[in-house]
Amino acid sequence: MLSKFKFFVSCLPNLETVLLTEIKRLGIDAKISDCGGIELTGTILELYLLNIWLRTANRILVRLLSFYTTKLKTINDKVIAYPWDIYLHKTDKIIIKTTCKKSKIYHSDALAHVVVSAIEKRLRRKLLLIKPHERDNSTQTLYIRVFKNRCTISIDSSGKHLHERGYHTQKVKAPLRETIAAAMIYLSNWNPKEILWDPFCGSGTILIEAALIALNIAPGINRKFAFMDWKNFDINLFNSIKKIGKPLNPNPKIFGTDLSLKAIQCAIKNAQQATVKQFITLSQKDFFKTPPIASKGFIITNPPYGKRLKKENAINFYKKIKTKIDSELLDWNISLICPKKFKNIFIPKFDARITIDNGGISVIFLNKKA
Ligand SMILES: C[S@@+](CC[C@H](N)C(=O)[O-])C[C@H]1O[C@@H](n2cnc3c(N)ncnc32)[C@H](O)[C@@H]1O
Repeated sequence: MLSKFKFFVSCLPNLETVLLTEIKRLGIDAKISDCGGIELTGTILELYLLNIWLRTANRILVRLLSFYTTKLKTINDKVIAYPWDIYLHKTDKIIIKTTCKKSKIYHSDALAHVVVSAIEKRLRRKLLLIKPHERDNSTQTLYIRVFKNRCTISIDSSGKHLHERGYHTQKVKAPLRETIAAAMIYLSNWNPKEILWDPFCGSGTILIEAALIALNIAPGINRKFAFMDWKNFDINLFNSIKKIGKPLNPNPKIFGTDLSLKAIQCAIKNAQQATVKQFITLSQKDFFKTPPIASKGFIITNPPYGKRLKKENAINFYKKIKTKIDSELLDWNISLICPKKFKNIFIPKFDARITIDNGGISVIFLNKKA
């Protein structure tokens, strides 16, 4: 019988519902937490499953300690009593992230100092407290939260952010985060038996995520996780769940076009790196000057926005997209993200789904059925 742990799965604000559906699809029960993200109780096997298989999660924390206190001395005593060697036996470098809110303990730096020296006493060796950008392959990260006098200490099981799947070796100027691309695909209700086309494909993130979904390949299949350096890491259990599942479509039809030849070359390399190149057809095309690649299917896309299009140009650009949709793409299901301020160009014909922050720009997911 495997022991149970409490997990917190974080995601971009407003993706919680998509993430919850993904978790439930893995056969794991969970609920949306007050802190934004998903809370659940599960085994170490489920921790591996969540890390390897979730496409829209940022990272997964394991709750280690949780207790009420108003004194740093209590935190010191509880931390010294914890068997830290399980998690830190391969590293002397740790990152500590602290938040104190609505509590008698309010000084984050003092809190971090108490926790680090208590762990050092327990381990009988020195630790190096480093900044996130200084992390190496074996760094472990602790999250300490004091809220309404409850102190919760968690360890990050993921390591690098989960959107870092390892295939994005070539980048264009504004690549979409893999987690956002996956969320767009889920929210579009794309059936992997139907054609998918991204006419502003850039480095190919939406196309690659779609291929991974259709082929049922785990997004984390080729990457390292922080839990692999823990003493309780069970490599046989881990390998048993890395296997590829039954494809939803073994031969998906996925197309990417872009005005920029450099972007197409970049998408080809990334698709090769993700081992899905054979399922994706890529070509250089101007969306406005070429006919649709088929008579119907799903367009899922992230047109340019932000600093690269001046405001006036951007409005006209999005109006041109809308005109093309209304005149030539009536039989296509369309999903796109655009800056929230342009949503009225598409509404009411499009449904507004959710709003997220994408690199400091508030963007909205819009969907239209054929
Ligand atoms: C925001 S980027 C897409 C990023 C992409 N989702 C990724 O993950 O890399 C927008 C893309 O639209 C392309 N683009 C701009 N004008 C275009 C046009 N008229 N036709 C086709 N592509 C165009 C740009 O070259 C750029 O690669």
